[in-house]
Amino acid sequence: MTLHADPLTKPQISKTAGMRTTANGGPNGKPVLIRLEGLTKSYSEAGTSHVVLDALDREFYAGEFVCLVGRSGSGKSTLLNLISGIDAPSAGDVTIYPAADAAPVHLTALSEQERTLFRRRSIGIVFQFFNLIPTLTVQENVTLPLELNGQRRNVRAKAAALLERVGLGNRLDSYPDKLSGGEQQRVAIARALVHDPLLILADEPTGNLDEETGGSVLELLLELTSGAGKTLFMATHAAEVTERADRVLHLERGKLVSDDLWRTTHHA
Ligand SMILES: Nc1ncnc2c1ncn2[C@@H]1O[C@H](COP(=O)(O)OP(=O)(O)OP(=O)(O)O)[C@@H](O)[C@H]1O
Ligand SMILES: [Mg+2]
Repeated sequence: MTLHADPLTKPQISKTAGMRTTANGGPNGKPVLIRLEGLTKSYSEAGTSHVVLDALDREFYAGEFVCLVGRSGSGKSTLLNLISGIDAPSAGDVTIYPAADAAPVHLTALSEQERTLFRRRSIGIVFQFFNLIPTLTVQENVTLPLELNGQRRNVRAKAAALLERVGLGNRLDSYPDKLSGGEQQRVAIARALVHDPLLILADEPTGNLDEETGGSVLELLLELTSGAGKTLFMATHAAEVTERADRVLHLERGKLVSDDLWRTTHHA
């Protein structure tokens, strides 16, 4: 593993009018956490440029639970990967406002290594296919983000406490392949939260689970994230999830075609 390789995310690497508010004032006075400006991603294939996200302008606020919906290929994972800095945009910018007294972070101004370090510190990600490291135990998978961030004290105890909360306190020394899909996703949730990130991103976190297991994993994820005042972005195809969101963004072929918050603030 090189110094800046990112074992937490690498395994996965397989326009509308903008809403403008002041930098510190969203609904209910929530501070802006993320600003997208002209955010565009395109790919070149056989000499043709293919736009998969088309000039998104939008702001999101601390503590929001935002759902991303849209058909397969509409750009949901692409948007999450640009917000996390796993991927870099073709044009435009993502700015994260970590705290009122901290400088904003312009992701496009960072190198790939700097984005990796920022992501490790500030973002937790839950993937559809869990992405646990098979050669590490359950507890080691959860201590890893702390260790990558240079923490040495109490890391095992912190991981064990969180694994207890997700119902796996008795599986600390098991390896991922001995766990069910739902259990693996619970470990992944603990791993995404253990470093107390600013923002949690979940890309179809129940998409690989049966309905009942997916339902209980979702309840747990919501309880530990938006239920605890944290900011959560979730791409999902599940209607029962969108009913619970503060805000639902609908993407169609890389364009934002609706945003509940935008509708209520502009057309109410
Ligand atoms: N590396 C790449 N090269 C070329 N095109 C790509 C690449 N990655 C993604 N795309 C294209 O970008 C578009 C958006 O993909 P994305 O994965 O964001 O969709 P999605 O909404 O997450 O779909 P799903 O619901 O199936 O996960 C698709 O048309 C996809 O083919
Ligand atoms: Mg996707």
